Amino acid sequence: MMKNSKIDKNSPFNNLPDLPPKANLETADIFKAAIKANKLLAELKGFCQTLPNPELLLNTIVLQESKESNAIENIVTTQDELYKATLMGENIKNQAAKEVLQYRQAMYWALDELSTKGFITTNLLVGIMQKLRNTQEGIRRNSGTKLSNPINGLIVYTPPEGEEVIRKKLQALENFMNDDELSDLDPLVKMALIHYQFEAIHPFSDGNGRTGRILNILYLINQNLMGLPVLYLSKYIIENKNDYYRLLREVTEDENWHDWVLYVVNGIAETSATTLTKIKKILELKAQAESELKDKMAGGFTRELNDLLFSYPYIKIAVLEERGIAKRVAASQYLKKIVEFGWLQAFKIGREVYYINHKLVDVLSK
Ligand SMILES: Nc1ncnc2c1ncn2[C@@H]1O[C@H](COP(=O)(O)OP(=O)(O)OP(=O)(O)O)[C@@H](O)[C@H]1O
Ligand SMILES: [Mg+2]
Repeated sequence: MMKNSKIDKNSPFNNLPDLPPKANLETADIFKAAIKANKLLAELKGFCQTLPNPELLLNTIVLQESKESNAIENIVTTQDELYKATLMGENIKNQAAKEVLQYRQAMYWALDELSTKGFITTNLLVGIMQKLRNTQEGIRRNSGTKLSNPINGLIVYTPPEGEEVIRKKLQALENFMNDDELSDLDPLVKMALIHYQFEAIHPFSDGNGRTGRILNILYLINQNLMGLPVLYLSKYIIENKNDYYRLLREVTEDENWHDWVLYVVNGIAETSATTLTKIKKILELKAQAESELKDKMAGGFTRELNDLLFSYPYIKIAVLEERGIAKRVAASQYLKKIVEFGWLQAFKIGREVYYINHKLVDVLSK
């Protein structure tokens, strides 16, 4: 492949071309990968549509995706800290867990906006970044943002500079995302192009990676390829992180779009399959809990209670009260019984007792 000699890693890439690239993206291997990924993604979407109460159940999957996407930025939280935090309301002390929950909220906020507006805008992207970082900051105004290799500190890329320039490029990206006539490439291939482009514009001082990964999901939902934000793509990126960084670089330096697109499309295929398997496992477990607990707990068991057990990996008595499932005393008895029958484990933090659905946690963390 020809080296793109015009690129100087140390000066702002204000010549970043708009999409679509000139590269040939209709090669046999990209076609093949796209067909496979589309099929698996459609299966995932179809399966989610058959679920009776999908939002509740899939909330845990969305939380996992948020955790992985944050871990790419080295905002690492343990499952334990994270699940505890989901029960703490405003009083979350663990900063990493807080950021994961902000990420999930940013994603839900964006979905809401998207469903009323119908298309993805620059303002929507700014809003996502502000929510996930909890900041009022907007598009970069100052110069000096550079991407460096975390290991040796060497500059790997300098994004465009100047608010005007950045806004123009975002506008062009917006057009590309919302005007299906602009290019008849497969939407999954387009998603790969869009992710690169957003990262290369790098419009914010921080949070570009996370915003870009939320954008992936939004784009698929806006294209009707997914109904709920359940794709576990960040896990794939974490597991193939060096390739992620290397291939982004190769697009800039060598115009190697081909390998980047394959990487992303293969990721969609792989994660569609693993996400589906995970959801099915959770459902199996849930059905098993239902059949066992219904017998053993006699009156105390309800379907609403089981729904709750499988939408919160950690739970406490107050949650049952809030949801109107049982009053305090009864709720406490139910949870104790469930512990006895092996479907929850109790542990104490301060004066409060938490109950862990350890079997669910096992499935989620694999
Ligand atoms: N060579 C590159 N060219 C363009 N974008 C890149 C390159 N290397 C990495 N990136 C993108 O920049 C992101 C990091 O930017 P930033 O720190 O603003 O985002 P973040 O959300 O805070 O962090 P992270 O993505 O690490 O979680 C990476 O996740 C990746 O998407
Ligand atoms: Mg960052």
